[in-house]
Amino acid sequence: MRLQDKVAIITGAANGIGSAAVQRFVEEGAKVVLADFDYQAGKSLENELREQGYSAFFVQVDVADRKSVDAMVEQTIERFGEIHILINNAGITRDAMLTKMTEEDFSRVLDVNLTGVFNCTQAVVPHMVANRFGKIINTSSVSGVYGNVGQTNYAASKAAVVGMTKTWAKELGRKGINVNAVAPGFTLTKMVAKMPEKIIEQMQSVVALQRLAEPRDIANAYLFLASDESNYVHGHVLQVDGGIMM
Ligand code: CAA
Ligand code: NAI
Repeated sequence: MRLQDKVAIITGAANGIGSAAVQRFVEEGAKVVLADFDYQAGKSLENELREQGYSAFFVQVDVADRKSVDAMVEQTIERFGEIHILINNAGITRDAMLTKMTEEDFSRVLDVNLTGVFNCTQAVVPHMVANRFGKIINTSSVSGVYGNVGQTNYAASKAAVVGMTKTWAKELGRKGINVNAVAPGFTLTKMVAKMPEKIIEQMQSVVALQRLAEPRDIANAYLFLASDESNYVHGHVLQVDGGIMM
């Protein structure tokens, strides 16, 4: 029970890595807010978890919309009274080669993957400061670390998340708040399922472990960084990528 009675907001909780994280967090005793755009998947996961006796609460949110984020945080406080953990996991891709990328696709990816992380963190931090305790985990990507063909917008957003993580580590450490990032490798979710088969094979061939990640592999890294076991890990970017050489 590494997260006994901790209140955790997980964005992008309804699918993929987020839903695997929700499962791990409730198993470890956390009360979890499932913050996601996807109403159907979010509600159905909430119902499933409640039937198993876990404390889970779905709130529909668009992380790119500050008003929507503020309302989500308010509902969390009404429900649970405090917030200990924030996992900034929501993210999208809109891949295209640089010369073909539209302004709209560039902006939307930045709005969700970068401004969304800023919005959620800024809304949650005052509640953590009041407790002098918090764990913030941001989701970067190997694309943000190495760059990736067809991902100008996405790689920029994920590299920016690393910059914000290191900045917040410096600003918030003295207030008892740990800030770290996870940079997952290619992970078997809907996001990767959209890629051309040939490129998935190419990516798998450059992973030393010779397999793509399962969502649970990434969820376990979130769990480590959310637990007391990582209390002296701060401003770190944990690559969970099977040893990728992109
Ligand atoms: N490495 C090197 N060259 C590549 C390449 C790669 N990974 N992918 C494409 N190219 C080359 C192609 O061979 C082609 O070369 P030529 O012009 O010489 O023929 C050129 O780039 C254009 O490629 P396409 O014909 O595929 O161009 P397109 O406009 O039809 O499609 C694309 C472009 C949308 C980017 C498509 O290639 C694609 O979807 N690629 C996958 C992008 C990707 O890896 N996304 C990751 C999604 S998962 C994720 O983002 C999670 C995470 O954090 C890692
Ligand atoms: P996914 O597409 O399976 O799930 C993403 C979730 O985010 C969905 O439930 C979706 O509804 C939600 N979401 C999207 N936009 C939102 C918004 N504006 N507001 C609230 N919720 C929103 O994706 P996956 O693979 O689980 O990705 C999770 C995170 O991991 C993302 O940040 C992604 O960029 C990152 N990542 C994924 C990798 C992969 O290979 N799958 C690799 C590296 C990083």
